[in-house]
Amino acid sequence: MCGIVGAVAQRNITPILVEGLKRLEYRGYDSCGVALHVNGKLERSRSTSRVADLEKQLAEVGLDGFTGIAHTRWATHGAPASHNAHPHFSPNSDNARIALVHNGIIENHDELRAELTALGYVFQSQTDTEVIAHLVDHMYQGDLFDTVQQAVKRLHGAYAIAVFCREEPHRVVAARQGSPLIVGLGQGENFVASDAMALAGTTDQIIYLEEGDVVDLQLGRTWIVDVNGRPAERAVKTVHAHTGAAELGPYRHYMQKEIFEQPRVIGDTLEGVTGVMPELFGDGAYQVFKQIDKVLILACGTSYYSGLTAKYWIESIAKVPVNVEIASEYRYRDSVPDPKTLVVTISQSGETADTLAALKHARSLGMEHTLTICNVATSAMVRECKLAYITRAGVEVGVASTKAFTTQLAALFLLTLTLAQVNGRLTDEEESNHLKAMRHLPSAITAVLALEPQIIAWADDFARKENALFLGRGMHYPIALEGALKLKEISYIHAEAYPAGELKHGPLALVTEEMPVVTIAPNDTLIEKLKSNMQEVRARGGQLYVFADADSRITSGDGVHVIRMPENYGQLSPILHVVSLQLLAYHSALARGTDVDKPRNLAKSVTVE
Ligand code: G6P
Repeated sequence: MCGIVGAVAQRNITPILVEGLKRLEYRGYDSCGVALHVNGKLERSRSTSRVADLEKQLAEVGLDGFTGIAHTRWATHGAPASHNAHPHFSPNSDNARIALVHNGIIENHDELRAELTALGYVFQSQTDTEVIAHLVDHMYQGDLFDTVQQAVKRLHGAYAIAVFCREEPHRVVAARQGSPLIVGLGQGENFVASDAMALAGTTDQIIYLEEGDVVDLQLGRTWIVDVNGRPAERAVKTVHAHTGAAELGPYRHYMQKEIFEQPRVIGDTLEGVTGVMPELFGDGAYQVFKQIDKVLILACGTSYYSGLTAKYWIESIAKVPVNVEIASEYRYRDSVPDPKTLVVTISQSGETADTLAALKHARSLGMEHTLTICNVATSAMVRECKLAYITRAGVEVGVASTKAFTTQLAALFLLTLTLAQVNGRLTDEEESNHLKAMRHLPSAITAVLALEPQIIAWADDFARKENALFLGRGMHYPIALEGALKLKEISYIHAEAYPAGELKHGPLALVTEEMPVVTIAPNDTLIEKLKSNMQEVRARGGQLYVFADADSRITSGDGVHVIRMPENYGQLSPILHVVSLQLLAYHSALARGTDVDKPRNLAKSVTVE
């Protein structure tokens, strides 16, 4: 989702801005743009294509400058069109004084638009962002820093903005409230960006701006004021951000590469886990785990499904009650808080606006024991939570999450064992067996990846369908949900998941010969019940595609297609089963020729509500 980069330097910053945008591409976007201060004028270039095309465009027109801002936009207000792409100018493009980029949503944009229109401003886009550009221009009286501090007081909603002005050529002003923004410090030059990764290779000296901060970036100085306009000291951190995604290597897409990286990254995530130790989740974790008597998991999307899986594990193994809530619902609903709750946020990006807001909401209700399972050590989520477990999936480029999900599951299983241990529900023998199974996960996943040729054969069938059902039971129900999500996200085949026992209460009405029904069939205590559910499908002509454990005695037959999973993996079985569903989604999308890594309308890091 929207990414911001800005710079004030004494060298040409176009390559820095473009490189920054490339590093933010993984978040998802549908247009991009750069604006620079050039010979006393503001110039810009915008594109509804990729950043690489914008780069060519900039080279063609020779757009260079020492001060400027850049942006990748994920459309919220107004279509993904060139005139809606940022940077936005004010008062208008020929005579621009203010250039501005924005991430977030301004809720009172209609009201401000009416006010500014009455003042004579002509809007050239449908965005809420252009409103801020005109507002800043209208309020400008010679000092941009001062103006932005006043202007943001008029904004309701979430924003991270970066602004510069024709009349102050060596200055960029930025502000944040509810959307991420960092400052990068250089030698005689300074930067602003949505995350530290955007500046990797340029500077590793990073300041994380706090809510309400406004920052003045000049060549040799940065100055920050807080939400009340008071000077604010913010710590400078040395951040070794990932230097971006590695090459594709032998893979056709990042998603495929990331699926195949899972054995390694799960190994990395569990590296150093020599035993079940609360301290793995941070200092003071033991005391926190000892005090809590329930768990509340908050997350969105794929991360929500890892939370749902964890509920089965934690309640069964640690015997601690767990509630899993979609962050965007929890943050607005009336709930019954309990200070003895461990609030667990799960997020690959650590910047998801809804999850951050849900966390804040939980804290405002008096729940102070917070833990995050997160893939980005430098993210807002990690900074906001007391305890953290950092998954080590590495940069995930494919918008559809794969390796981030399975590493979350590995971390959540470790959390399960830790809570069980703290509650005296884990014997030494159980601990050692579970750890052995976790250490064996990389090779178990490798064996699942070897099923790819069989899955490709199924994918050819799927590519011709418009609908699919996914069935699972128990802890494999969330895996069915994740399998359906993966398929719809990247192949655009409509897919729904149900707990198999629920089939007869509705979805059975959809089953005909045209309906493929993917069934996750581990050899667990529910297998006989699942087989009955499968009969219900076959009786209506539905085509079953079954991922069965080696020992579950389900065989291929008329309308029943079976792929045998290499082994029955007990409690950790969801981690293996989801890998086969990822491959099914990937190859179905490939067969349909969709843009697998950048599915339409979706973003990797959803930093707006
Ligand atoms: C977006 C991404 C999903 C992700 C969800 C939650 O929708 O496309 O892959 O699961 O956000 O993101 P988070 O970073 O909080 O895990």
